[in-house]
Amino acid sequence: MYRTKTCNDLRKDHIGQTVTLCGWVNSRRDHGGVIFIDLRDRDGLTQVVFRPEEHPQVSEASHALRSEDVIQIVGQVCARLEGSGNAKLATGDIEVIASKLRVLNKAEVPPFPLDDPKVNEDLRLEYRYLDLRTAPMLRNLRMRHRIVKTTRDYLDERGFLEIETPVLSNPTPEGARDFLVPSRLNPGTFYALPQAPQQYKQLLQVAGLEKYFQIARCFRDEDLRADRQPEFTQIDVEASFIDDVEIQTLIEGLLVRIFREAKGVEIPAPFPRMTYADAMNRYGSDKPDTRFGLELVDVADVFRDSQFKVFRTILDGGGVLKAINAKGAAAHLSKEQLKKWEEWVKTEFGAKGLAYIKWSVGGEWESPIVKFFSDAEKAALAERMGFVEGDVLFFGADKLEPACEVLGRVRLRCADLLGLVDDTKLNFLWVVDFPLLAFSPEEQKHVAVHHPFTRPNADDVALLEAGEYRKVRAVAYDVVLNGVELGGGSIRIHERALQAKIFEVLGVGPEEQEVKFGHLLKAFSFGAPPHGGIALGLDRLVMLIAGASSIREVIAFPKNNRGVDLMTHSPVEVDFKQLREVYIQSTAKKG
Ligand code: AMO
Ligand code: AMP
Repeated sequence: MYRTKTCNDLRKDHIGQTVTLCGWVNSRRDHGGVIFIDLRDRDGLTQVVFRPEEHPQVSEASHALRSEDVIQIVGQVCARLEGSGNAKLATGDIEVIASKLRVLNKAEVPPFPLDDPKVNEDLRLEYRYLDLRTAPMLRNLRMRHRIVKTTRDYLDERGFLEIETPVLSNPTPEGARDFLVPSRLNPGTFYALPQAPQQYKQLLQVAGLEKYFQIARCFRDEDLRADRQPEFTQIDVEASFIDDVEIQTLIEGLLVRIFREAKGVEIPAPFPRMTYADAMNRYGSDKPDTRFGLELVDVADVFRDSQFKVFRTILDGGGVLKAINAKGAAAHLSKEQLKKWEEWVKTEFGAKGLAYIKWSVGGEWESPIVKFFSDAEKAALAERMGFVEGDVLFFGADKLEPACEVLGRVRLRCADLLGLVDDTKLNFLWVVDFPLLAFSPEEQKHVAVHHPFTRPNADDVALLEAGEYRKVRAVAYDVVLNGVELGGGSIRIHERALQAKIFEVLGVGPEEQEVKFGHLLKAFSFGAPPHGGIALGLDRLVMLIAGASSIREVIAFPKNNRGVDLMTHSPVEVDFKQLREVYIQSTAKKG
């Protein structure tokens, strides 16, 4: 036996016993010839003492030990000397006096100290196997395991079957680019890695499986950021004969259980529901962070007849004018900073500008635009916004969605600046009544807001028939936590004719439908039950529960923001022969 106990097992009760422990040298201290080692394994730390007067040879050997050496020791459990206990350590009452030492493997000096929280992330990713030895990373991986286990138990108890679906599959539209895999056996053809198991889980409903789930790996070739990886994991759920509220209730129950078991907190359910229109109008986001106010206020009526051309032109053209009041922000924002914010909204979000009024305590209104306002407009504005000394007002004038979205971003930045975000809050929220379709100016056509399989609201079918596409609501819902989109789902279309109609609206003609979605349309003509589902982003969920700032912190081997695994250097070039076998010729230039 390599060991009889772990490094987190020993307590006062074990005093007098002889034990064998294995692990890594966490730290080593020399107290006048007596060597103290904190021995570490996955479960904890135990203090091991090498005493020259009792075990001279072993003690001599211990002088050569260095951090991260892997060792096995045999020794006797003893009480620590009066006053030298360590209350922070579960094993802090005892120590083990080593009588045998076996070095299982020597370690080189690690490239960074494992207990330093400020190590550069690239270095951590290059030596990820060392980084994962640290307590925070170990804690995150344990938490992830616990969440997956809880999910499996919860869904199993409710009759859901875990079913795997192919990774080598066809493109399925979720809004990102596909990763393609060339087929050697079928020259010139490609598999796509799934962006989600969407079509398969629907086909499983046609197959009569009724309740499906999968801890599903998904692949999306998109621009990466803190909460996006090219491969990530979904808790993917689909069921038959179920409505939207039943799915939401099922997921609330799952989240309640996960937060109880993984974090030890009781979250209240049902979660509040907010329509997409409300979320946009009040928070400027389809995933509002409701932990603080700072809501968007409509001020169009105040400036309906304004002399200020920018506002007037936009309002006359059917646009909106919204404002937020960043209370107390005047002291934090200089004129230069306000200029920088304006540049930021222009370059990052394509905004036309960011009009503001700053009112320092004891000062006048400072603003590039107030000179155009009448006294009546100023008075009405101040009243509407609760604008007082110390505040800064920001304005967004544009079409509804872009105006709200830009102010939504400004709102988040103001909350950061003013320290309004309460980290202890867990604000869950369902966003419902999304539009089914949006118009894409780039593609000059309608696109699905979620995906093309989403069901239109029964009350809006007449609008669909009448071609009023942008007014049609979907039976779709997103679950949001503290401003992060945790998951999204919908009730699906299960009728062939309706699905074909939606494809048509999306500009997918009959031939393309046959090639890309023929299997699904055909399946719907063989008795497809009404069905719906949802997918939660597992990585994001673990990130939020662990209090991490990026999903990279809760994935064992993540990629960096350029999609590179810094440890294995993936993706790598492959040689000509391998490419030829799959009928690929690379035109890429290196670098
Ligand atoms: P959706 O595209 O909204 O829906 O994805 C569901 C959830 O997956 C997470 N997610 C991601 N997490 C990390 N990195 C990414 N690149 C990434 N992309 C998405 C988010 C998101 O809410 N098939 C539908 C679900 C359904 O309709 O049932 C789907 O995939 O948390
Ligand atoms: P201009 O007349 O274009 O120089 O703009 C005057 C002020 O209004 C500047 O502070 C701009 O940032 C701001 N502004 C211009 N267009 C918009 C808009 N659509 N929404 C909000 N502010 C704007």
